[in-house]
Amino acid sequence: MDTCKAYRIFNEDNKIAGKLVDVEGAEIGAGEVVFSTAYSSVNFKDALAGTGTGKIIRKFPLVGGIDAAGTVVASADRRFAAGDEVICTSYDMGVAHDGGYAGICRVPADWVVPLPKGLTLFEAMALGTAGYTAALAVELLELNGMQPSNGKVLVNGATGGVATLAIDMLAGRGYAVTAVTGKDAEAGFLKKIGAAEVLSRTTLEMGTRPLEKSLWAAAFDSVGGEQLAWLTRTMQQNGVIASFGNAGGIELKTTVLPFILRGVRLIGIDSAATPMPLRRKVWARLATELKPRHLADIAHTIELKDLSDYFAKMLKGGIRGRAVVRIS
Ligand SMILES: NC(=O)c1ccc[n+]([C@@H]2O[C@H](COP(=O)([O-])OP(=O)(O)OC[C@H]3O[C@@H](n4cnc5c(N)ncnc54)[C@H](OP(=O)(O)O)[C@@H]3O)[C@@H](O)[C@H]2O)c1
Repeated sequence: MDTCKAYRIFNEDNKIAGKLVDVEGAEIGAGEVVFSTAYSSVNFKDALAGTGTGKIIRKFPLVGGIDAAGTVVASADRRFAAGDEVICTSYDMGVAHDGGYAGICRVPADWVVPLPKGLTLFEAMALGTAGYTAALAVELLELNGMQPSNGKVLVNGATGGVATLAIDMLAGRGYAVTAVTGKDAEAGFLKKIGAAEVLSRTTLEMGTRPLEKSLWAAAFDSVGGEQLAWLTRTMQQNGVIASFGNAGGIELKTTVLPFILRGVRLIGIDSAATPMPLRRKVWARLATELKPRHLADIAHTIELKDLSDYFAKMLKGGIRGRAVVRIS
């Protein structure tokens, strides 16, 4: 198999960093399905992994990238054949198994999702784990009673990957979205993709009482820490919160009062461990009624060589939307 370019992450004397290198295709990954990678993407987890800021990677050296989409070259599993367009995200991708930042991916067939009709490979990676997480949160909150007539839906970390896609999806389904951002200059962009109102993170009055004024029917939390605590205090009766992120911290200090006096439900979202039937259902929704209407505004393309700089910017909270990585 040919040599391909790969962004491989090394641990040299406890210094973790990625480099663009040439790798023999035969050396990459393991599993029944080999596909030629067209695109990958950048998620917060990729930035933590690629810089060693988080202890994400369990095996070095490793090709980074928790997301990949491409065209099957060979398959030893009858569910897939050469020419099929596929998506592979989560599981051990970019963590303990070579990921999407290489021209070739070799993965277990059980991790592979056929590209749903209605999405291109580029769009699948503009969504990637971020879009999948936003859609899984919509799916699970709707199962717990979220509907547009209940009231406002808050989305924080609003200019981030998961949040921009969540705003677009929710607005498309008729929800009134309030976005909270640390980037006031992006208010116009957030309104364009569907936010009805935009609040500034820096001037947010969070209060300290165990229960504050009821404001939100539902919330999508990228941030954790103080903002998640504030959300628990300000949900309406039977409000539902999707907790999926820790961009602002891993602590959660709250009381039981929101849960026992307002029936607030805090729903954990783990995109990596979704069972395959639910995973396919969520991707099918992403290709149809949840497909964001402003993907072209939210996503932009970068190259493998740009990854190190992009990770650094992302970890400082300095990016907007989604970066799709062009591979081949
Ligand atoms: N549970 C899962 O399965 C799952 C899946 C995907 C992602 N995640 C997590 O979800 C979060 C968002 O991921 P992402 O890929 O969307 O990341 P991202 O694109 O970097 O977005 C994070 C956003 O959070 C805001 N932010 C950054 N630092 C902050 C701080 N100190 N305090 C408050 N807000 C801050 C920024 O938006 P503003 O400047 O607009 O406020 C930033 O754009 C991450 O924590 C990630 O690990 C979890």
